[in-house]
Amino acid sequence: MIILVVGGGGREHALAWALTRSGDHSLICAPGNPGIAEIAKLFPVKVSDTDGLVDLAVKEKVDLVVVGPEVPLVAGLADELRRAGIPCFGPGADGAQLEGSKWFAKEIMESAGVPTASGKVFSDAVSAREYIGEDACRYVIKADGLAAGKGVFLPDDSVEAGGILDELFSGKFGESGTQVIIEERLEGREVSILAICSGTDCVILPPSRDHKRLGDNDTGPNTGGMGAVCPPPETGNCSWEHARTRIIQPVLSELASRGIDYRGVLYAGLMITDDGPKVLEFNVRFGDPETQAVLPLVLDDLGELCFSAAMGGTLPEHLAVEDGFCSCVVMASGGYPGTYEKGFPITGLDKIEDAVVFHAGTAIENGRFVTGGGRVLSVASIGDTLEDSLDRTYRELEKIDFKGKYYRKDIGRTV
Ligand code: AMP
Ligand code: GLY
Repeated sequence: MIILVVGGGGREHALAWALTRSGDHSLICAPGNPGIAEIAKLFPVKVSDTDGLVDLAVKEKVDLVVVGPEVPLVAGLADELRRAGIPCFGPGADGAQLEGSKWFAKEIMESAGVPTASGKVFSDAVSAREYIGEDACRYVIKADGLAAGKGVFLPDDSVEAGGILDELFSGKFGESGTQVIIEERLEGREVSILAICSGTDCVILPPSRDHKRLGDNDTGPNTGGMGAVCPPPETGNCSWEHARTRIIQPVLSELASRGIDYRGVLYAGLMITDDGPKVLEFNVRFGDPETQAVLPLVLDDLGELCFSAAMGGTLPEHLAVEDGFCSCVVMASGGYPGTYEKGFPITGLDKIEDAVVFHAGTAIENGRFVTGGGRVLSVASIGDTLEDSLDRTYRELEKIDFKGKYYRKDIGRTV
């Protein structure tokens, strides 16, 4: 098949890597990055340019489009591709509302009987403040719409909660802030479940866990993700079968009953509470960086799986998965997620023997790789045990150098 991957981050590099692994598919990517350029032909079309992407897919006669990020899905890219007769792995704008509106996701979960934190929606700050009262630390405040991972707040007290609500309703997040969800704060460990869905059928990928905070021991600001492990050392009372039968399948059936044919990845962010797994959020695309730790363990042909899902076909009940563990550790530019400098040469990439490197924010200057973003690249490797995998990942990662490099030293070792 000829496959077009849409996106240009670490997740898309991992997707491109997995899609070319079988050797049966040729890949193009828009806009891609210098790492992806080593395995796919790149086209400079932005992920927000729906018409440009459809034109590219038609012109290049692609058999399948795999969409990385959520923004084009919420904007209806999959619908336009299907209208043009091109199979797309990614939900239409209707299904993408699961990520585009947290309140829509809540309603679907409630109708489908899927366990989640109880929540209420508000459209003004006064009633939201009243609802929270003095017990702010029992609640989580969320902007309803897409906020690039920056729309969730866990206030310590009612003063902080009030400030957050004022900011959200003042339009700081644009459309995303016009409705605010306040939900019960849950405690437990988090697990990410990714499922490949073809309408009402699905197959679960191995569970994973990402590390969102910048600093060791989960300190410092939230980031786009500093590393991930697959599978997490413990997933408590959440088995794959549980995730499939109690979470993913009921959601797909509920969507179908509303006329929504969901074809793509459904990502459930779970909190494993004492009362069992509860859903914190849905995403309608592969997780980042989870994908970089999950896909190296999947032995099935990802292209065939995505094609089958895009066509509404049947999926295997279980995937063929490597025995063992995979870890990925992100190397970031000093200063990230705040301001940072770019353009520093990256050395040591040619010395990596026992791991894969996924590029996220790299660029090429004068024929060599330089830093070009906040999260620059990640190193991923497999081991028989989680410790083996982490030892290998860190050993390989230390061969890579660039000015100001920063990475967490405790990925997979703290929860
Ligand atoms: P979300 O984007 O909804 O996944 O939220 C981002 C992060 O906020 C999650 O990964 C959790 O760490 C935290 N979070 C979200 N909802 C809750 C909740 N109801 N209780 C506790 N923590 C939460
Ligand atoms: N790792 C969290 C996400 O992809 O949304």
